[in-house]
Amino acid sequence: MTPLTDTFGRVHNNLRISVTDRCNIRCFYCMPADNVQFMAKAKLLSFEEIERFVRIVQPMGINKLRLTGGEPLVRRDLPTLVAKLAAIEGIKDIGITTNGILLAEQAQELYDAGLRRLNVSLDALNAEKFAEVTRREGYEKVIEGIQAAKAAGFDPIKINAVSIRGVTEEEIVPFGHFARETGCEVRFIEYMPLDADAAWERDKVLFADEIIETLSKEIRPLIPVPNSDPRAPATEYDFNDGIGRVGFIASVSKPFCMNCNRFRLTADGKIRNCLFSLEETDVRSLLRSGTDDETIRQAVLDSVMAKEAGHEINMAGFVQPDRPMYSIGG
Ligand code: 5AD
Ligand code: SF4
Repeated sequence: MTPLTDTFGRVHNNLRISVTDRCNIRCFYCMPADNVQFMAKAKLLSFEEIERFVRIVQPMGINKLRLTGGEPLVRRDLPTLVAKLAAIEGIKDIGITTNGILLAEQAQELYDAGLRRLNVSLDALNAEKFAEVTRREGYEKVIEGIQAAKAAGFDPIKINAVSIRGVTEEEIVPFGHFARETGCEVRFIEYMPLDADAAWERDKVLFADEIIETLSKEIRPLIPVPNSDPRAPATEYDFNDGIGRVGFIASVSKPFCMNCNRFRLTADGKIRNCLFSLEETDVRSLLRSGTDDETIRQAVLDSVMAKEAGHEINMAGFVQPDRPMYSIGG
């Protein structure tokens, strides 16, 4: 089967699957503080439907999966889904992006089901700052979760830290030390306009270059990692004594859209060709109406062929998608 390629020649081998829009915390850059309207259970794809979708698209060259949310670990029996996906021939790599709150309880079971790559979202190494960003308690649980994941054998473990001006500057240096001490790569993500409250402003983005400068000055000079995967969104750097790696997802200051190899399946069964797309394709109704595999593959191809060159965060006419991050799946 021909690889899933868009009109710009980008080959899509990477599918991100959101398994729920629910979450046990309320990061301000993603969710509203209260009264979140979650999807009705009947609208969520079942594990069987997700598995069927992955089996249908895998022959188009899909070999990497990542489970996201909301918070994926609040979806009941997640290890069962992981095992189903890991059993699909051609799926080489399954990762998850979690906030880590429930990780200590589930790490071993998830690992045993076949999950290997783990990203833990953590924006602060300080419990009060954590509570300010997430509007919930839970910092200690996340740290315990990271330790449990390490003990279970997860490798790599990466930390995703959203960088927000006026909020997380004080966290930069502690995270640099954390990367050096734990061997976890800390990836600083520029704050993107995907928040439920539409409060994003360019002035609130703490840019990758500023963080690189701070770390180089306060800890040690950073040197770019040679031969890192050109299609990976993060640019990686090592401290110049070889101890500790950090990464930067500079979505706003240095968009990496031209290297994008990913598309998304939302928890309610919509395909999105981009985080920022304003249109989506409903595969849930196809999956639930007895549609044949070939027609579903054609719907996926049509969605990818309609993918734009890149997001337009930096343009005057930028329109924020009406689904915030928790509903898209990061
Ligand atoms: N800007 C940047 N990153 C975000 N994330 C969630 N919302 C935003 C945003 N508005 C991050 C989460 C998680 C990943 C899935 O995306 O922190 O690590
Ligand atoms: Fe939950 Fe992740 Fe959104 Fe934070 S960013 S509220 S952890 S879904």
